[in-house]
Amino acid sequence: MERIFISCRLEFSASHYYRAAGWSEEDNFKEFGKASRHHGHNYMIEAAVHGGINPETGMIINIRELKKMIKEVLETVDHKNLNEEVPYFQSCLPTPENLACYFFQALSSKIQTACTASVRVYEEESLYAEYRGEVVKA
Ligand code: NI
Repeated sequence: MERIFISCRLEFSASHYYRAAGWSEEDNFKEFGKASRHHGHNYMIEAAVHGGINPETGMIINIRELKKMIKEVLETVDHKNLNEEVPYFQSCLPTPENLACYFFQALSSKIQTACTASVRVYEEESLYAEYRGEVVKA
């Protein structure tokens, strides 16, 4: 089976803190250290899309469309306090892992013509979380 992916990388900035629900300030500091305090990151998202190559356009998906959809998803988090301003993170901590799950879901619901293969969320250059979807035949 042919497996070809196209990836797109975009940046966003957001702030967050790690405090587990019901934990004392001391326990949170023990587990999360300084990350238990409100602070910000310049994140990077890398989304990969899988599908068949359209023989007319030579593309899996129109790149301009893909960028537009990723930007729409990033609008929901950019320059926000993730814990307090993004409803999804009312019930889970805004870790790179949970951000990757969130973006994967949000992006998958927008992309109709191809399939979202994976989403990476870089909190810094040397640290990222990746959500991998099932690769289905296009
Ligand atoms: Ni952080």
